Amino acid sequence: MAQAGGQSGRVRQRTHEGFLRHKGFRWAFVATGLSVAAVGVYFFVALQLSEPPNGGSWIGYTLGTISAGLIVWLACLGIRKRAVSDGHYSLKAWVSAHVYLGLSLTVLATLHTGFQFGWNIHTLAYGLMMLVIASGGLGIWAYSVLPHRLSANRGEVTRRQMLDNVASLDAQLQEAAQPLDRACAAIVRHSIEDTEIGGGFWQRLTGNYSHCANKQALGSLRNLPDSGPDSEILAKIETLMTQKADALALARRQMRITALLEAWLFVHIPATFALLAALIAHIVSVFAYW
Ligand code: HEM
Ligand code: HEM
Repeated sequence: MAQAGGQSGRVRQRTHEGFLRHKGFRWAFVATGLSVAAVGVYFFVALQLSEPPNGGSWIGYTLGTISAGLIVWLACLGIRKRAVSDGHYSLKAWVSAHVYLGLSLTVLATLHTGFQFGWNIHTLAYGLMMLVIASGGLGIWAYSVLPHRLSANRGEVTRRQMLDNVASLDAQLQEAAQPLDRACAAIVRHSIEDTEIGGGFWQRLTGNYSHCANKQALGSLRNLPDSGPDSEILAKIETLMTQKADALALARRQMRITALLEAWLFVHIPATFALLAALIAHIVSVFAYW
C-alpha cells in the first residue's frame, strides 16, 4: 500500500510528461498546422469575399463542422478512458491529441463565428466551450505541479502511516484520560470521537477545519482552571492533542492536494455536457431560422 501510494505519484507525473511530449509533440504540430491553415483561409479567402465573415458562409460552415466534430470526439475521451482496450492506439496518444486539438478549437471555433457574439444560444455554446478548455488547462497545471507537492508534503510518511498515527494518538489519549473526572474526560472524548480527518469533498478542497473537534478540545483544555492533582495528566493530554493536531494537519494537506487533482474535472465534465446541449441547440436553431 505504502509503495503503491508512492509510485502512483511518480507514475502520474511521468504519464503527464509523456502525454504532452508524446511522439515528439506530434499532436502539437497537427493542431498548430490546423490552426494556421484556418487563420490563412480566414484572412486570405473569407475576408476577400463580399459578405462579412460569419458562421453561415461556406468557410463558416466548414470551420463550424470541423469544430463540432472535434468537440464530439473530445467528449468521447470519457468513454475511451473507461473502455478497456488492447487496441493499437494508446490512451496516452488520445490524451495528447485531446489536449492539443482541444486548444486548437480556440482558433477554429472563433474564426467560425466571424467574431459575431451576442447574448444568444450561439455565444452560450462558445462560452461553454471556452470554459471546458480553460478547465482543461487547469487540469494540465494540476497534473504537472500537484504530484510534486504530494510527495513533498508526504516526505517519508505514507498515507496509511498518517492515518495510523492519528489512531495511535487517539489510543494514547484514551489511556491517559482514564483517571480524569467526568468533565475533563468529556473533553478528551470530544477529540477522540468527533474529529473528522477529511470530511466532504468541499472541505478537503478548501482545507477549512475551523470546527475541528480536536482543536475545540484543545481550546477547552487550555481554558480549564488550574486543577492541582490532575495537572500532570492534563499536561500530557495537551501534548498528545497538539501532536494530534500536527498529524491531522499533515493528513489534511495530503487530502487537499488530492482533492485539487480532481477538482477541475468537476467543471470539465459537466461543462462538456452543457456544451453538447448548447451546440445541438445552436445547430438546430441556425437551420430552423434559415
Ligand atoms: C456543424 C457545426 C456548426 C454549424 C452548421 C454552425 C452554423 C452556424 C451558422 C449558420 C452561423 C451563422 C448564424 C447567423 O449568422 O445568424 C453560426 C454562427 C455562430 N456559431 Fe456556429 N455552427 C456550427 C458549430 C459551431 C461551434 C462548434 C461553435 C462554438 C462552440 C459555434 C458558435 C457560433 C457562434 C458564437 C456564432 C455567431 C452567432 C452570431 O452571429 O451571433 N458554432 N454557426
Ligand atoms: C471543448 C473541448 C473539450 C472537451 C469537450 C473535453 C472533454 C473531456 C472529457 C469528456 C474528458 C473525460 C473526463 C473523464 O471522464 O474523466 C476529458 C478529460 C481531460 N481533458 Fe478535456 N475536453 C476538452 C478540451 C480540453 C483541453 C483544451 C485540455 C487541456 C488544455 C483538456 C484536458 C483534459 C485532460 C488532462 C483530461 C484528463 C485525461 C486523463 O484523465 O488522463 N481538455 N476532457
